[in-house]
Amino acid sequence: MINQRIRTAGVAAFITATLIGSNPINAQQELTVHMNETIAPIQPTMYGIFFEDINFAADGGLYAEMIKNRSFEFTLPMMGWTQPNSDRHSFNEESGYALPVKYAEGDANQNFIRVQVKNAEGYELHNEGFRGMGIKEGEAYRFTFDAKQMQGNVSSVTVTLLNDAGKSIGEAIIPVSGSEWASYKAELIPNETVMKGSLKLTFEGTGELGLDMVSLFPKDTWKGRENGLRKDLVQLLADMDPGFLRFPGGCIVEGRTLARRYQWKKTVGPVEERPNLINRWNTEFEHRLTPDYYQSFGLGFFEYFQLSEDLGAEPLPILSCGIACQFNTGELVPMDELQPYVQDALDLIEFANGSTDTPWGKVREDMGHPEPFNMKYIGVGNEQWGPEYIERYKVFNEAIQFKYPDIIIVSGSGPFPEGDYFEYGMKELKKIGAEIIDEHYYKSPQWFKENATRYDSYDRNGPKIFAGEYAAQSVAIASPENKNNWDTALAEAAFMTGLERNAEVVQLTSYAPLMAHAEGWQWTPDMIWFNNLESYGTPNYYVQKLYATNRGTDLISITQDGMSLTGQDDLFASATLDSEANEVVLKMVNTSDKPKEIVLNFEGKKVKSQGTVQVLRDDSLTSENSFDSQEEISPVTKAISVKGSTSKQTLAPYSLNVVRIAFKK
Ligand code: AHR
Repeated sequence: MINQRIRTAGVAAFITATLIGSNPINAQQELTVHMNETIAPIQPTMYGIFFEDINFAADGGLYAEMIKNRSFEFTLPMMGWTQPNSDRHSFNEESGYALPVKYAEGDANQNFIRVQVKNAEGYELHNEGFRGMGIKEGEAYRFTFDAKQMQGNVSSVTVTLLNDAGKSIGEAIIPVSGSEWASYKAELIPNETVMKGSLKLTFEGTGELGLDMVSLFPKDTWKGRENGLRKDLVQLLADMDPGFLRFPGGCIVEGRTLARRYQWKKTVGPVEERPNLINRWNTEFEHRLTPDYYQSFGLGFFEYFQLSEDLGAEPLPILSCGIACQFNTGELVPMDELQPYVQDALDLIEFANGSTDTPWGKVREDMGHPEPFNMKYIGVGNEQWGPEYIERYKVFNEAIQFKYPDIIIVSGSGPFPEGDYFEYGMKELKKIGAEIIDEHYYKSPQWFKENATRYDSYDRNGPKIFAGEYAAQSVAIASPENKNNWDTALAEAAFMTGLERNAEVVQLTSYAPLMAHAEGWQWTPDMIWFNNLESYGTPNYYVQKLYATNRGTDLISITQDGMSLTGQDDLFASATLDSEANEVVLKMVNTSDKPKEIVLNFEGKKVKSQGTVQVLRDDSLTSENSFDSQEEISPVTKAISVKGSTSKQTLAPYSLNVVRIAFKK
């Protein structure tokens, strides 16, 4: 009953808003919070994270490896490496030179380098890192490499960390010996902090040395893991308390061609055996070419599951459905060759959840996690459209449901939130009885404000919705001029009241993309920006964080004159009860440039006389956070008071306000 009233109210409210225009500035708006009628549970998965290796988000970002092309597997095997005193083209090789050597044809770890040291005084091999290396004074770094003597006697390798000016800021000498491959390590503690450091290798003796897997990690990774993740970046994610982690994308799942699709089986097991792959964002955009962007898969599926577990988030892997990115080649696997793709999905479920007696459960055990990851969701295809997707999806759907009836399958409605592809996909997926459909929208801030009622009319008995990729674009989709400004974040905050008001239907949501390296990005806007030393959350991040950390457990309604607040007079609102904390939680967004005086009337439960409001605001819609001003736009918490069952509030211009007040049971 209440659902019906609120949903129809959304449409009525829009008409009312159009008719009456703005309220006089100081008129009080009376809002009623209906605490006695819960509409639907808010799913723990309501606010989550979308992760894709775009913008150097994995290699060069979250994955803490500091050496680019550590195992010489890029298409140009010496990319990222330089030999300043050795130039083959001018026959200047007196000091020595390194050449790539192939082990054998095959997938994994194809190359190593043969370093010929002719003059130990002169020969140097440098790695430039990912737009430099961020090195911190006094912190420990773990340097490792594999080596074998091939000729003569190169008796030691000296590793030196260099500052921006090329001066040593820490070094270690590592003796090497033996004609068989062996692993070596050293610890370095630099004496200076630099943003754009680099690494230099020099050698003692002359001869030829084989080198491979040259790696440098900070010791202080997330949870101190070797082969670990960058601590500051994971911390920003953990602070969001996300309900799920979707991985590994995005278009990266599909690949520009099928050969370059993401194949999870190639991302597990020992890191040195994971074959590298060119990153599909490498040369996608003419305006942001990144030819040195590859996937080492050091952050692979095991690590994604582990990260989900660390974050307390449901793992939500998305797999290729046998269609390459339809914005690129759209290459299709023939239907009679689809089976290996389906098998990948079935095997992934075994990898995540199977007992250690199963082949893939055993792989998980061997990687150090005998307990299952308890994966509940799997996504089939990313942004596919048309009959080609539906016919492939049906095969996956049948096979997964048959073998693993408890697994929830996430399907996709294509790249756009309306239009022919969308309509067709939704219609067909509903016919099949799809459980959860992923929708994507990269639209203007205006669109987000106008679409706060988008889900009011969705069938409560139809598929559930995963708003899997969305972000307001200040200029246009994929424009390099897009900004993470307050205008975009405020519009998303307004829209999110609509997601929350429709929690019966919308059960998972995530902003996209997640992360971007300040110098290595291809796509903007992004929720978190980082360089090699620092990271910060954008205003969009704080909006996501405020929603996710104030989710509540049960949806209730908040109305004005019996209608939901969906933008009439520039006011948007949603409300939940938090039955664990016994608090009522309100999100109110004022998108106007004027303050709003409101009176909150709490009905159905007695509320306490004190509460809090977290306010995220800025006077200017063009304001942004930056490395120099990382928390320019960030929440400020204030106390609020309640008299009896009412509370008077002033909502600042351009503000998101999250109110929490305890109630008596
Ligand atoms: O988030 C960036 C890209 O946008 C994703 O990879 C893709 O799914 C969407 O088109």
